[in-house]
Amino acid sequence: MSKVIFLCGSPKKKTSVSLSLAKILAKFLDYDCEFVELNKSYFSYPLKKQEKEFLEIIEKVKQADCIVWVFGVYLFFAPSQMQIFIEKLFANNYYFKNKITAIVSAAAQIKDDYALGKMKFVVEQLGLSHVGEVIMRSSLFGYSKNKIAEKNCYLLAQDINWALKNKYIPIKTTYSIAKKYLFPTNSSKKIILKQKSKEKDKTRRVILMIVSSDLQKNVFAKSLVAAFKVISKYKIEVLELRKYNINPCLGCRRCFFNKNNICIKKDDYNKIINLFSKSAGVVFVSDCSCGIVDSCMKVFLERGFMLGKNMTFKEKHTMVVVSGGGPLNLEGISYLQDSLNTTTFCVTGISDTNIDKPNYVDTLVRTIKFFDRAIQEDIQKTVLFTDKGIRLIFRDDCFELAAIFEESKNQYIKNAMFDYPKTKRISEIIKMGSKDPAIKTKLVSLLKNVDKRQKNWQKKILKQLFIYFSN
Ligand SMILES: Cc1cc2nc3c(=O)[nH]c(=O)nc-3n(C[C@H](O)[C@H](O)[C@H](O)COP(=O)(O)O)c2cc1C
Repeated sequence: MSKVIFLCGSPKKKTSVSLSLAKILAKFLDYDCEFVELNKSYFSYPLKKQEKEFLEIIEKVKQADCIVWVFGVYLFFAPSQMQIFIEKLFANNYYFKNKITAIVSAAAQIKDDYALGKMKFVVEQLGLSHVGEVIMRSSLFGYSKNKIAEKNCYLLAQDINWALKNKYIPIKTTYSIAKKYLFPTNSSKKIILKQKSKEKDKTRRVILMIVSSDLQKNVFAKSLVAAFKVISKYKIEVLELRKYNINPCLGCRRCFFNKNNICIKKDDYNKIINLFSKSAGVVFVSDCSCGIVDSCMKVFLERGFMLGKNMTFKEKHTMVVVSGGGPLNLEGISYLQDSLNTTTFCVTGISDTNIDKPNYVDTLVRTIKFFDRAIQEDIQKTVLFTDKGIRLIFRDDCFELAAIFEESKNQYIKNAMFDYPKTKRISEIIKMGSKDPAIKTKLVSLLKNVDKRQKNWQKKILKQLFIYFSN
């Protein structure tokens, strides 16, 4: 009997929307299904370290015939714990031949297509053959019974059943790339400057360099920091993310309501945000991993997901540097720029690509000087297509959230009313709804049509309300 293993990456564990969808898919499968949580213990650096839990999961993957990746989209890709799991697979040379794979995801429609494409690319680099994917829009309340997603699960399950029964391994559709570009590797390329140190700004304003690369081993990142110290007129402060204790985002979304939209979790993240807010500009330096940033940087960025609502950060000038990704560096830069443009103004970026060309140093010097000028003259950048799209979605989401919940945010937090419907929440929702005239009208009409003698009448209203909010 073939086996299907579901690798679940959401930090929300049982309340995960993507997990709910995966369970629907499993219902339609004719084979043994096993669900494995990737978040049970936190995987960590160094990537070569293979924890006991990691090896146990690997054994299960080896024995399975189909691997289903289950995750909500967290900053345009899988959540950071799933990302570090993937990085460990690449770093330890795992390659799974003759197995099929599928993706089950949930997202709020912000670059969800990008996340799916990227994941498909990643799983094919691991040797797996992709059969298909299903994704659902997660509503304000999270999971609601979604007919379209359910139907798609049914179709995907049919494909998986057929493939397993007929031992069908589809051809890969993405190109192959050298493994060294797919996980964080220390760039050995050194920047050699001829310039002398510049006269420093009298105000002693600071550029903060937030570095996820390992400065002891990454020659490029180390020489880049040195180059900034010489070329920029601002004082340079370096913050090495690896030396701080920053836990991954839990997906609770309390940052939606928290003061200044800062994550409520108490760890070193808050210290960094303090430094961040005091600096004149911030440079993000990361290793490239699968064409995005490394998981160490991703943990940090996920925690700041809602900072985009905070106006003090929106004006902040940022710059990005990505290295070690070879042909994927360019994608890594765009990824980091798009991520930062939701929260700050990302001015420019550079990588270690073409470092051996004679005009590389000139380009680097110009880029750093341009960044200095952008800070000094408070230059604002033209908003591009993706930035605008993301901002509009944020605006709509924030508007929707604010309109419905602002007055009741304490109730929302107190009752932990995040994803996944529970019947007992109906009274809370009715209370909140009654504050908004449009929802009140909807509720009155729903209540009129419901027979309260029927079992589960509250559940029915709740379901209809979810559909109402989801559309
Ligand atoms: C930190 C964070 C980052 C997110 N990033 C994205 C994103 O880039 N694109 C998107 O469409 N939704 C994004 N979302 C929304 C989630 O994809 C959505 O809540 C989804 O239901 C999460 O799936 P899960 O419940 O299985 O964890 C993000 C949510 C959080 C908390």
